[in-house]
Amino acid sequence: MENFTAYNPVKVHFGKGVTDNLGATALQYGKKALLMYGKGSTVKHGYYDRVKKQLVENNIDIAEYSGIKSNPVYEDVEAAIALARKEQVDFIVALGGGSVIDSAKIVSLCVQENLNPWHVMIRQQKPQKSMPLLTVLTLAATGTEMNAAAVLQNHKTGQKVGHVNPLAYPKHSFLDPEYTYSVPKNYTAYGIVDMIAHALEAYFGQGVSRLTDKFIISIIQEAMHFGPLVLKEPENYEYRANVMWTGTTALNGMTNWGKKYGDWGVHALGHELSLQFDVPHGASLSIAYPAWMKLQIEKAGTRIAALGQALWGDSDLRATIRNFENFFESIESPVRLQQAGIDVDKRENIIQGLNDNQASGFVYPLIDEERQRVVDFMYEG
Ligand code: NZQ
Ligand code: ZN
Repeated sequence: MENFTAYNPVKVHFGKGVTDNLGATALQYGKKALLMYGKGSTVKHGYYDRVKKQLVENNIDIAEYSGIKSNPVYEDVEAAIALARKEQVDFIVALGGGSVIDSAKIVSLCVQENLNPWHVMIRQQKPQKSMPLLTVLTLAATGTEMNAAAVLQNHKTGQKVGHVNPLAYPKHSFLDPEYTYSVPKNYTAYGIVDMIAHALEAYFGQGVSRLTDKFIISIIQEAMHFGPLVLKEPENYEYRANVMWTGTTALNGMTNWGKKYGDWGVHALGHELSLQFDVPHGASLSIAYPAWMKLQIEKAGTRIAALGQALWGDSDLRATIRNFENFFESIESPVRLQQAGIDVDKRENIIQGLNDNQASGFVYPLIDEERQRVVDFMYEG
């Protein structure tokens, strides 16, 4: 087992009606909030009204920044920082999925010292403090509600990068599974893929702990069990609740205890697809993970075999990879680039982007020739 530090300061409020305490909880952080949300789903389904009522009833003033796009971009974060500074807000409330919450985390890191969000993302500027952040999660997938990571795209530099900073932990996260009833089938499925991928990135990380492997396997099993059920019955509370908590635990630090770090090479591949073609994050991973396993069949063979044995009682390497593909296909997440509308004429652009961004993993580094092979696996299987 590797040395490790276990730390997570996020207060998670989980269950039916938990946002009814948001206003009272928020009061301790000041009198004016920046409320951030996405393109309209939260307004359409009534979550916005419920959250706003909480703030209004507690006499908290509100400035709003809406329209954060899926796979969020630098420009929105920059504009939200400017608004927060102009309106002199005391804290931030993020209402949405990973894209909104990640954007709010970066605002929180930059706003008080007026830092440049991209410079913070790439660690050219180091924040000394952050603004308190409360989140209300509406989509089970990323785990951002209980971690210190944020991911952002910059089309000017041609990058999608992740940033981890202990100052970015939310103070409170409100997780009401009923807020996820309205997530459409495709994004529900991509969320399931994302949590499985987070467990796998840790599984293929540096160091092995038996207990941690068991956490990881359980997370994948729960995602595979409840995923198909929730797709059939999107308004089943138990199914949504189990999926939501599985997503949170898949990336709240627990799967790294006993390890040094995860691999994260598959996320680097997926981020390039999202950057170039706006592929939803989870969809990029159901394409990239099987391809990556095919590439690593020799170097990671023992680990892939143990995974197959634990999940399907079959340690055959090809069967294990095929089983992952079958599962992803069964929930209608793509496993080939063509299924995401990316034809083979884009092959060179993808390889170029991966090389420019030095897409790689921490445990299984990728060299140029491997980036070409993995892209071919993404096209051809
Ligand atoms: O914009 P609106 O109208 O709100 O619609 C969103 C969006 O179109 C919709 N949606 C969200 N909640 C809904 C809903 N529709 C109906 N009912 C609801 N309750 O779903 C769409 C996708 O939302 P988004 O926030 O983009 O999805 P997700 O939560 O998967 O977040 C993806 C982003 O998170 C990053 C990804 O790279 C991507 O940029 N990640 C963040 C991580 C982290 N911070 O730890 C780790 C992940 O690996 C990931 O990289
Ligand atoms: Zn992910």
